[in-house]
Amino acid sequence: MELPGLLSVLIGTLGLLGTCVAGIIPRVSFSMGTPGRSLGKFNGSDISNTTTLLLSDDGQTLFVGARDSVLALNVSKDDVIVMSKLDWSPSEVAMKDCSMKGKEKADCHNFIRVLQFLNSTHIYACGTFAYSPRCAYIKSEPFFLLTTPSGRTEEGRGRCPYDPYQRNSAITVDGELYTATVADYMGNRPVISRYLSQGAHIDLKLDDTLGWLEDPTFISSSFVPSDEKIYFFFSELGREYDFIEKFTVSRIAQVCTSDVGGQRTLQRRWTTFAKAQLLCKSDNELPYNIIQDIVTLLPPDGTPVDDTLFFGIFTSQWSVNSGRSAVCAFRLGDIKDVFAGNYKVLNRDTLRWSTRVQEKVANPGECGLHNASDNTLRFVKENFLADDSVHPVGRRLTMVSPDQHYSHLAAQRVQASNGQNYTVLFLLTESGYLHKAVLLRNGMHIIEEVQVFQQPQPVKNILLSISKGVVFVGLSDGVLRVPTSNCSYYRSCPQCVLARDPFCAWDRLNKECALAISIQDKAGQDVDSGNVQEACASPMMPRSRFVPIKGNTDSYSPGELVSVSLNEVVQLQCPEASRLAKRHWEGPSSSLSPDVYLELEDGSLRFLLTPDTEGQYFCISTENNFQQNLAVYQVTEKSSPTQKATSPAVTPTRPQSRSLPPTTRAGTRRQLTPPLMVPKPIEPEPTTLPGQTRATTRHVSRNFTFWAEPAGESKDEETLLLKQGKTYLQELVVVSVLLASSVVVLLTTALYSVRQRCRKRTMPQASSLRRESDRSSECDPLQVGQSPRSNGKRNGLAAPNGQGNGAVCNVTPKGSNGHLPNTPI
Ligand SMILES: *[C@@H]1O[C@H](CO)[C@@H](O)[C@H](O)[C@H]1NC(C)=O
Ligand SMILES: *[C@@H]1O[C@H](CO)[C@@H](O)[C@H](O)[C@H]1NC(C)=O
Ligand SMILES: *[C@@H]1O[C@H](CO)[C@@H](O)[C@H](O)[C@H]1NC(C)=O
Ligand SMILES: *[C@@H]1O[C@H](CO)[C@@H](O)[C@H](O)[C@H]1NC(C)=O
Repeated sequence: MELPGLLSVLIGTLGLLGTCVAGIIPRVSFSMGTPGRSLGKFNGSDISNTTTLLLSDDGQTLFVGARDSVLALNVSKDDVIVMSKLDWSPSEVAMKDCSMKGKEKADCHNFIRVLQFLNSTHIYACGTFAYSPRCAYIKSEPFFLLTTPSGRTEEGRGRCPYDPYQRNSAITVDGELYTATVADYMGNRPVISRYLSQGAHIDLKLDDTLGWLEDPTFISSSFVPSDEKIYFFFSELGREYDFIEKFTVSRIAQVCTSDVGGQRTLQRRWTTFAKAQLLCKSDNELPYNIIQDIVTLLPPDGTPVDDTLFFGIFTSQWSVNSGRSAVCAFRLGDIKDVFAGNYKVLNRDTLRWSTRVQEKVANPGECGLHNASDNTLRFVKENFLADDSVHPVGRRLTMVSPDQHYSHLAAQRVQASNGQNYTVLFLLTESGYLHKAVLLRNGMHIIEEVQVFQQPQPVKNILLSISKGVVFVGLSDGVLRVPTSNCSYYRSCPQCVLARDPFCAWDRLNKECALAISIQDKAGQDVDSGNVQEACASPMMPRSRFVPIKGNTDSYSPGELVSVSLNEVVQLQCPEASRLAKRHWEGPSSSLSPDVYLELEDGSLRFLLTPDTEGQYFCISTENNFQQNLAVYQVTEKSSPTQKATSPAVTPTRPQSRSLPPTTRAGTRRQLTPPLMVPKPIEPEPTTLPGQTRATTRHVSRNFTFWAEPAGESKDEETLLLKQGKTYLQELVVVSVLLASSVVVLLTTALYSVRQRCRKRTMPQASSLRRESDRSSECDPLQVGQSPRSNGKRNGLAAPNGQGNGAVCNVTPKGSNGHLPNTPI
């Protein structure tokens, strides 16, 4: 029977050949509707295609741009309330016109793409308006749409795309609107402009000079007040890489808010436009060249503005990196250095870019060129592409996710209880999960993931409200409100500390996991290394003896009582503490021989009840060098042998007739009954590996909900199948299709032939597979278990290695959405 071994080697090899890329798994996963994360959702039948989100300064009102409407939502309470809704849809005629021109009817609505505060009383909004963009002022209090005396709205060309699928960005500064969008119906005239300028400030746009923008996709924009600059982020064709066809590059471009254009040259055009490449790339690797989203993270108070960071999500145009996304951080100081450096020149005859050779007449990108000479302005007009690229902080990727396509992100600086600041990123996956990750010195740690939608959909916007502790996600049918943390979900100090969530710390006084900022005294928290022993130690609870669950410190529990008949299969369930935790079982014999015990992938333990296997079982989880009991069971023989086929009772029937076999472990746990002499089986005992005895005292308590044995129905079913010899086949399929046919035929035949003989035997033998085939048909599940066991072992080996190195070689079966089913503790 070398097949299971062979199989595990094979699968192991496949795993290695597969995507063993350094990656991170979220520690806990909350699928939709899980109590640990109650999500507030606002959806009305008449709201669809949420595209823009805008939060009032006080954080009480969320303005939402959707299809044919703008809404004001009151988000000051936990449940979202609609305050007002503005209908703003194109006329029937306009929509008919639009579809006559060959556009999909569904796209001929008004999709709100610009929603910005102008001043304290007014909002400026623009929508695609049936491929004929319009803009309007909205009074925020009371909420209504303003139109010109003739009842018309403003022309929106250059401020909003025509096509609802085209991306754009817009930002208002001092009542002026800075936009980046395509400015024509065909979608091939990209432009960066300023509108709503007043007085000496005039509206500006980009000159039509060759190469200012090359088929760009605009992502976002950011205002840096101290520099009086607006930065635009986008991707476009990198024509300077003329040796690669259609090479996409990510860019940052800048303009000065003080710009008023030139007097003769560059009249009504930007004199301060410059762009540079954003290079999300680590050494010796292809760049992640396509920017998906980028956000600004202001530096902590008292630190230079140049430490402002821009966190971006990038994907790659090359298949070698397809399906992955990377996060890069760029520092404002580095960006300014690049813009202050040299610029490339475009040779107008050959259309080739080269590093500048002519004399530097001016500093492109510099603010305040209004009165500059024509010569200077001509120079800046032709020199706008910085020679250097902006490299990420530390010249490396902040994170790379091998299997997640991130689309949007939000960033927040969180002060932990030790006073240190941590960067927390909220990353939305295309499959519908919001990952919460904290940046640590040695990499990223994903604290949790929360499922925010089930059907994949293009989310246009997420918005973080720091004051409310909420991330708003704009869905196609509404707005979702996801709390940035829920510390009370962690019910013990170890759980609280192991989460390594900078938001959450253990309040020693009130014995609860709470918001770190709300705890007065020294709180239990260790974001950097999650050291439970240190963070949860207190004079009351010495390091070696504290107990995972509060209020349960001294209640020793013998465990869930499981009584079954001899030779019946016992399956003990074990909850998952976290995805980073490893589970293992300990039982009456010091090591659970794989010949007798089957540790399944879901963490459960399966074995046959024999005099040897009676006793106390512990499911122990190890995470970050911290061990805790997840479940305790007391497995005994059922007194009445006539009830063989019924479900093993969870009713507490105390074992009387039989005592526990003596444990070989050195006093690690109390025994319920004094050990008696039990007739030893003839088979050699499972060998005890030296060093497997743990010397630490473990306090046993009922930490978690215990999973009871499968319900009677399924158990009966199992017994039934067992009698028909079907479990055998079923189990094998679980192992692998590779094994299927040959082994099934072989073993079924073998079993069938010895079945009669087996029945007479009562004493099960548990030494080797060969012997097992001599046993009664009730042994079948165990024997069949041989194959899944090797499967389980393979995982047991792969997981620790993988996690230890920060590499993920995840071979466990996943749900259809690529996520493990969530098991909240
Ligand atoms: C936080 O977690 C607790 C415990 O799981 C749960 O009862 C509560 O509803 C959660 N709160 C939120 C806002 O998700
Ligand atoms: C609007 O939402 C529908 C349904 O989710 C989607 O199919 C459609 O593509 C969306 N339209 C735009 C312009 O995003
Ligand atoms: C805000 O802008 C609107 C539109 O330009 C203007 O009518 C209004 O007076 C401004 N309000 C304030 C307080 O400046
Ligand atoms: C530019 O020149 C005009 C007229 O010569 C002058 O009034 C203005 O102050 C100058 N602006 C700057 C910024 O120097």
